[in-house]
Amino acid sequence: MSARVKKARTGKKKAAAKKSSRKSKKIKRIAILTGGGDCPGLNAVIRAVVRTANLLYGYEVYGIEDGFDGLLNGRRHRRLTTKDVRGLQVKGGTILGTSNRGNPLNYPVKTGDRIVFKNVTGDIVKNIRKLGIDVLIAVGGDGTMKIAQAVFEKGIPVVGVPKTIDNDLAVTDVTFGYNSAVTCATDALDKLHTTAESHHRVLVLEVMGRDCGWIALESGIAGGADVILIPEIKFDLNKVCDHIYNRKVSGSRFSIAAVAEGACPLGGKKVYEKDPGADGTPGRLGGIGRWVAERISLCTSIDTRVAVLGHLQRGGIPTTFDRILATRFGVEAVNLIARGEFGRMVCLRGRKISNGTIKSAVKMLKVVDPHGQMVLTAEALGITLGRPDQAPPGHPDDRHTG
Ligand code: F6P
Repeated sequence: MSARVKKARTGKKKAAAKKSSRKSKKIKRIAILTGGGDCPGLNAVIRAVVRTANLLYGYEVYGIEDGFDGLLNGRRHRRLTTKDVRGLQVKGGTILGTSNRGNPLNYPVKTGDRIVFKNVTGDIVKNIRKLGIDVLIAVGGDGTMKIAQAVFEKGIPVVGVPKTIDNDLAVTDVTFGYNSAVTCATDALDKLHTTAESHHRVLVLEVMGRDCGWIALESGIAGGADVILIPEIKFDLNKVCDHIYNRKVSGSRFSIAAVAEGACPLGGKKVYEKDPGADGTPGRLGGIGRWVAERISLCTSIDTRVAVLGHLQRGGIPTTFDRILATRFGVEAVNLIARGEFGRMVCLRGRKISNGTIKSAVKMLKVVDPHGQMVLTAEALGITLGRPDQAPPGHPDDRHTG
């Protein structure tokens, strides 16, 4: 490298460092909130943010309580220091609390004796300013990132950190929380295997996954399921029943099905425990596992049981993978602040921590590709996803996955 090029490069580096330190000098106080459904790893992010902000950059950190709700009703916040986050990397849930109800982009406001739905993100912005917060770190999924983007567009410097057990957020290869949830679901399938085998039964496990079937698909592969049903592929019930019946005929006297809560039969509808509200509030999914189990039992005459894993998938300590990912995300979120890069969300690409715009992360969900590698892997093993166009399996004995 010539001396001239070397000098120019050093000059550029110095200018960038000066610019970034100028930016970091202006920042005194940052805040962090956790929004949407909780998941293992949230506390590890909080710990990493507080430690990096305090120890590396000297920023003050404030924790906002209950997600964006804490910036709407009473400006609920508290100072966080390294003492407050000691040992948090192992703790499930979130010490700040969270909320996945009352979307500020469509918030119920009482006007006279009527309830009207309004965008109240302007109030959030006012409260952030009143608290003297220079930058907000929003940790959450798709819903939280949409609110974060709205707040950013109203002039607040924001950095996003992606979380969700569903792993459905675009831009990042993986969200933290997902690995813990899949591990929990796989563990459940392993347990169901032994009892299904003993009693010669079909065991159906309903797992989370509102719009995307990552948990069902990957736990199903890891846990040796025979049937995997996901929201991305409308399933043909006859294919499912034939598959289970054929297994029985060929001597496999038990079968296991992993079913995402958002799975939907061909020509049918998703099954809700509580229907979506007329005002747009999301419904509560639940019941597809039982629906499938009852029909399998009727069609095949095999004794069938159902287990619903529910919030066990969201609770408890994070796996090692999730602790590390959450920690790396937390550190990088503060690095982004120091570099003055706002409106961006940290992410994992391959094995590297990177970042992309929050705007691109909320454009669309990261759904399972019905013809992608992971689905083809499952089908190569002889697992049925109940798709009408799936090629019939070879000799059932060769396809035994249980
Ligand atoms: O988005 C994560 C998720 O776990 C979904 O899979 C599920 O439908 C939803 O949260 C349930 O949320 P809650 O029971 O907290 O309302």
